[in-house]
Amino acid sequence: MSKPIYVLSGPNLNLLGVREPEIYGYETLDDVRKLCEARASALGREIVFRQSNHEGVLIDWIQEAREKASALVINPAGYGHTSVAILDALKAVNVPIVECHLSNPAARETFRRKTYVSLAANGLVSGFGAASYELAVEAAAGLSRQA
Ligand code: DQA
Repeated sequence: MSKPIYVLSGPNLNLLGVREPEIYGYETLDDVRKLCEARASALGREIVFRQSNHEGVLIDWIQEAREKASALVINPAGYGHTSVAILDALKAVNVPIVECHLSNPAARETFRRKTYVSLAANGLVSGFGAASYELAVEAAAGLSRQA
């Protein structure tokens, strides 16, 4: 079995299902975890699924992924638009990186149009709600199989 795909989620995503559901959907983060596990399992892969509201914790997990992951899916949430430190951590990762957003930030406020994470990611999946995560896991599995 290859190394797991790390699926990391940033701040406020613990409130998924109750936080602005008209934008982010009614599925909870636990529902999203189950979808990711099912998609990974169908592809013969495993995931490590984690969420934190803290930038430093996310950076620690990104650094951990350097050694322990075959690929990384990250929904940086608000930090995607602000965090040079998360970008720097991602640049030190030598496995495929897929950026993921439930909403389509490019179609929202101007300040969401830029994400630092995109500078380090192989690709981006956004705008499909919980399915963005499933598609991102599938893309990460494909990229890490080729790697
Ligand atoms: C988000 C989009 C971000 O702009 C926002 O700050 C989030 C969630 C998304 O999944 O659509 O918290 O990353």
